[in-house]
Amino acid sequence: MCGITGYIGDNESASVLSAGLKNLEYRGYDSAGIALIGDDVTVHKQEGTIDGLTIPSNADATHGIGHTRWSTHGEPTDANAHPHTDCSGDVAVVHNGILANYHELKEELNGHIFESETDTEVIPHLIEEAIADGADLRAAVMRALDRLEGSFAIAATHADYEGIVAARQDSPLVIGHGDEGMYLGSDVTAFVEYTRQVSFLEDGDVAHLYDDDIEIFNDGERVTREVQTVDWDASAAGKAGHDHYMHKEIHEQPTALRQAISGRVDDLAGNASLNIDLDDGFLQTIDEIHIAACGTSYHAGLYAKELIEPLVDISVRVDLASEYEVYDGHNTQDTLVVAVTQSGETADTLSAIRRAKASGMTTFAVTNTVGSTITREVDDSLFIKAGPEIGVAATKTFVSQVTALALFATYLGRLRGTISADEGADILEDIRQLPSAVQAILDEEAQIRRLAAQYSDSKAFFFIGRGLAQPVALESALKLKEISYAHAEGFAAGELKHGPLALVTENTPVLAFLNQSAAPEETRNNVKEVESRGAPVIGLATDGADESFCKHTIDIPELGRLEPLVANVALQLFAYHVANEMGRPIDKPRNLAKSVTVG
Ligand code: G6P
Repeated sequence: MCGITGYIGDNESASVLSAGLKNLEYRGYDSAGIALIGDDVTVHKQEGTIDGLTIPSNADATHGIGHTRWSTHGEPTDANAHPHTDCSGDVAVVHNGILANYHELKEELNGHIFESETDTEVIPHLIEEAIADGADLRAAVMRALDRLEGSFAIAATHADYEGIVAARQDSPLVIGHGDEGMYLGSDVTAFVEYTRQVSFLEDGDVAHLYDDDIEIFNDGERVTREVQTVDWDASAAGKAGHDHYMHKEIHEQPTALRQAISGRVDDLAGNASLNIDLDDGFLQTIDEIHIAACGTSYHAGLYAKELIEPLVDISVRVDLASEYEVYDGHNTQDTLVVAVTQSGETADTLSAIRRAKASGMTTFAVTNTVGSTITREVDDSLFIKAGPEIGVAATKTFVSQVTALALFATYLGRLRGTISADEGADILEDIRQLPSAVQAILDEEAQIRRLAAQYSDSKAFFFIGRGLAQPVALESALKLKEISYAHAEGFAAGELKHGPLALVTENTPVLAFLNQSAAPEETRNNVKEVESRGAPVIGLATDGADESFCKHTIDIPELGRLEPLVANVALQLFAYHVANEMGRPIDKPRNLAKSVTVG
């Protein structure tokens, strides 16, 4: 997964492309590059982040393409950075995805000069061959595409041909229609500061961008793609005075939650109004829900299971998307499959949904990204409305996913009669209190920062919780390990004594969720077990409860089923400040990327 950007128009291409790459860096940041096309093609590329890339201004350039890389084939080196060129240096190509058959193609292209270890490099040489046979740039790209197997998005240019030719197959590409030119991006953040008029390419599309027009083809036919206005403004893609995107996004949570909830609460009916197209009759009769997701979204799925099962009286299976299988004999007619995915582009989640669809199951997505691939593949989607999230570590989208799923649980419970209007109203009241409860935690940042500073050099960190807090324990551990590289693990509180307790020492802080909603006495006993082994315990305790047996406590507003979600915000801040103390590159953790479009 990498970021692609392109621009053709009146502005200076180099600056538009570098701004776009900066905004797309969350997709990969081990190398970056730009090709500028004027009378000839000049390529500037190198290992490292876009900040390290020197791009001489080039007033003659009429257009260009750019790329920020998360390496798959070939290490991050200057030579492996994109754009890649053909033997003549006239063709330049950027690529996101993986070409399954590049070995075979490379062998066929015997005699061409290859300078990198990437799979991408076969593409400019295939284009070169087609042009040598008399094709123009667009026809040459189409001919090259016929040879490629795998999932990809590409953009190609040629010194002698007008425009940029872009194509998508399973990897996202968005066109921006501006007053001063046409833009291309892996997502809208690449160009949202210039235009909010966008069209999303579909699989098989080949788009030819000119400075004031675009032609799109699919399967040889000319097609049009709707131009939509996105409601993200340019500031949504900036840091707004915070040192890191992650910090900004943690602090945006009250606003994100208000957006997720707004217009979705029907007080009179004690119900959520979600405007979903899934048939109510179908939702009344399903007897199982499967949730498939990856990373943080998987933890949101685990939280949803704990919410849905008791409220809706239905069995919920939660699978890591890469492990999701449908077994012969499964009652596919009465199962709803829910994909939880911030980006809507995660390859493992998409392929789980494709397996579910192939078995005849109804599919539903809970996602942040309007126009994403998943929204086109599922039967219906519910948007979490969190706004763009740039930090690789997901924060605001996790709380918004759980909130959207809590609304969905309420909707299902009311529809199936497993909860009354009063019970529905109680849950909705907790949902409505979420933004201010989260704000109360944000207001305690100074205390959390002090704790983070005190424990930042610990050997390892353990997080324990029960019931609804167990997924949050997993999520909190993931957050800390992603951005600080510290050893961190989350456990069901009761499981600690069945093995992990062997790791507990006075140098391993244990962060314990003491929410009232799940057997607090038992969790207290688990905490005492670790304290007696000398571990410092930081308790996340319901405000007002006496948990003085913990070395430290962070007070969490009482909020029923959603209290662990609020506690999660305290541990987002904890992870952030531990990583900051350690001087880590918080928004760009090593080896990771936000959107993983390879399986
Ligand atoms: C990547 C990111 C994680 C994210 C996961 C799923 O691994 O680094 O932060 O949770 O993908 O992403 P999705 O967009 O499907 O929620």
